[in-house]
Amino acid sequence: MLSKSQLRILVCPVCKFVLRQEKRRLICGKCGEEYGFKYGFPVLIPEITDDVKLSMEKWDAIYEKKLKTKEYLKDMDDYQLNHQPKIVEQIDASKKIGKGTVYLEIGCGPGYLGLYYGKKGSMIIGIDFSTSALKIAQKFAKRFGIKNTLFVCGDITQMPFANDSFDFVYGGGTIEHFKNTKVVLTEIYRILKKGGVSFNTVPCLNLGTLYRFRWGNIPNIPVVRQIFEFVNLNLLKGKHMSFGYELSFLASTLKNLHKVAGFKKTDITRFDTYLVLESLPSWSKRLFTYLCVKSPLFWPMHKAVARK
Ligand SMILES: C[S@@+](CC[C@H](N)C(=O)[O-])C[C@H]1O[C@@H](n2cnc3c(N)ncnc32)[C@H](O)[C@@H]1O
Ligand SMILES: [Zn+2]
Repeated sequence: MLSKSQLRILVCPVCKFVLRQEKRRLICGKCGEEYGFKYGFPVLIPEITDDVKLSMEKWDAIYEKKLKTKEYLKDMDDYQLNHQPKIVEQIDASKKIGKGTVYLEIGCGPGYLGLYYGKKGSMIIGIDFSTSALKIAQKFAKRFGIKNTLFVCGDITQMPFANDSFDFVYGGGTIEHFKNTKVVLTEIYRILKKGGVSFNTVPCLNLGTLYRFRWGNIPNIPVVRQIFEFVNLNLLKGKHMSFGYELSFLASTLKNLHKVAGFKKTDITRFDTYLVLESLPSWSKRLFTYLCVKSPLFWPMHKAVARK
């Protein structure tokens, strides 16, 4: 069961109307659609498109395996040691997050970062379409004694949140996993409070994209995108697409998408991230690490920061 304050944040993902809670159902007051719960998480997923379905299957399989093998424990240690410090530093530069902040992580996965802010007293909402990922997030929340959380099973292209709900929306490598980037950015704009900050990281489209081709990354430029979609999805049936559908972006495209979504000013800069560069020979790792930091031709990820 959801508390009144939790219910106030949630809406029907289709018509964005308030939901009524009856026993183990959430019912839309407008279209009458009923939503249920799975493993205690509200499941607010209406019909999904094929690209979202592909990403959902791939990501859920990844998290299901991590859950079974308990690999998530090692992942959390690695995240806290190697990834979190750089991410927190960059987020802190864009928005002070602390007690009273209403924080949403889209594509939260195991919710590592959200839980860090949860410990600081922020209200943490995480949305992901993988219940296996949410189960991991819930385990960590319990372990850390964090109670101010709400994990929602949903599709972020059809956001089940009320207008003007959040102070901060974070998507770490998430909004590239479906075709309609514009709709998600429009949704983020809708659900942010005035003055709220959107912070997303996505793969850069540059020479480094060649490295991502092995898992089916698609360059987001007209015609090239359509050709890559045809080859990856129609001919190869998405088998090698380890993370499902995945785009890489030019900074100019990303900036324009934010503008169309309603954001007046968006800063697109290099996302300073811990590089794994798995399967590269060790002699080349130092060289590529240097290039990934110094040259925009090799930058791995953009960070897009915009204020409503
Ligand atoms: C690269 S992972 C990032 C996970 C987490 N933010 C982190 O930094 O560890 C991308 C996440 O986005 C989720 N995701 C991708 N597309 C989604 C969608 N349409 N709706 C909900 N979740 C989605 C995946 O399940 C996955 O957890
Ligand atoms: Zn509805």
